[in-house]
Amino acid sequence: MMRNEICEMFGIEFPIFAFTHCRDVAAAVSRAGGMGVLGALAFSPEQLEIELKWIDEHVDGRPYGVDVVMPVKSVDRDAGLHDEKNLSKQLRDMIPSEHWDYVEKILSDHGVPPLPEEESDGSPLSEGVLGWTEATGSPLIDIALAHPISLLASALGPPPKEAIDRAHAQGVKVAALIGRVEQAVRDVQQGVDIIIAQGYEAGGHTGEVASMVLIPDVVDAVAPVPVLGAGGIGSGRQMAAAMALGAQGVWTGSIWLTTSESNTSDMVMDKLIGATSTDTVRSRALTGKPARQLRTAWTEAWEAPESPGTLPMPLQFILNSQAMRRVARVNNKELTGMPVGQIVSRMNRVRTCKDVIFEMVEEYIETVTNMGSVTAEVS
Ligand SMILES: Cc1cc2nc3c(=O)[nH]c(=O)nc-3n(C[C@H](O)[C@H](O)[C@H](O)COP(=O)(O)O)c2cc1C
Repeated sequence: MMRNEICEMFGIEFPIFAFTHCRDVAAAVSRAGGMGVLGALAFSPEQLEIELKWIDEHVDGRPYGVDVVMPVKSVDRDAGLHDEKNLSKQLRDMIPSEHWDYVEKILSDHGVPPLPEEESDGSPLSEGVLGWTEATGSPLIDIALAHPISLLASALGPPPKEAIDRAHAQGVKVAALIGRVEQAVRDVQQGVDIIIAQGYEAGGHTGEVASMVLIPDVVDAVAPVPVLGAGGIGSGRQMAAAMALGAQGVWTGSIWLTTSESNTSDMVMDKLIGATSTDTVRSRALTGKPARQLRTAWTEAWEAPESPGTLPMPLQFILNSQAMRRVARVNNKELTGMPVGQIVSRMNRVRTCKDVIFEMVEEYIETVTNMGSVTAEVS
């Protein structure tokens, strides 16, 4: 049991937050004394309802959170597209044929066949319009707030003001991921309660400033608002470092991909276990915004001289998800990737979520104790 403002705020034993797309991981982390946060982005509202109901039943009354992605800048926002029904067609119409041709070339170079007609179901989700447009994101927040969540987090921008107010009225805390000091200050002004300072080494969308520099700058800029350190944290020593930089807790993502509860596929699991820090790349090939992920034939192709260049969010993700459905059907290893941070070098064995938490806490305590004794000897 550790005690600080964040632990008290949520009634958790350890200030360790776990971002995950997998409900089993979210529930297991919360049951182990941390805080599981389910990424809602990839779910339809109906599916999110099912996932959250499952978590409610498996979390033993412990607190958990939900994460949405609310980009301040995206093509649909810039073009004022709000009509969910026509959204996917309107967005697809914006993709130049040159880009579809290039996707076709990448796939045929790797022997990936087209999708059989009967498998193209034409739903907005399968077509790659996830919950990160305004039209598809807001219903996810409605579902999340209808469950007994303790935290609503958002990436790429704060949740809409109205959602923040609604969360607060229900006693739900609001957190936002940021990669720059100015974004942290902006989000606090919008009413965000907790800032997640996420450095360059992180998996998923990242900025350009490393955690070592970003965390203390953000802590100083938003004090007394609590900050969670994120990006490159997967062990007790890394947690101690984040806390030494002024964070009140840690927000982790990559490390959960190689847990036994995670729904990571066998092929991706093998790739992650075998990868080192230099096997990741910060690339726009996945979503149109820079996101750290495994380097693959797909990320390389978009960097190649003949590449027409990536498209802005969410158009690039539409290309990506169409391609990855085909890639998954034939289990093509070279093109299969995964967002993951530089911490992947440490992810070399499969553990339970509980073991990850307990080993992290044990090493944290040992580290802090050792550092305390160093000070005592020096003084
Ligand atoms: C597979 C994966 C998917 C992610 N997707 C999201 C997301 O949808 N929303 C979000 O807020 N953060 C997302 N992130 C970022 C995490 O929330 C977290 O900030 C990041 O993983 C922390 O750095 P680490 O990977 O070094 O632990 C994702 C990270 C990974 C590894």
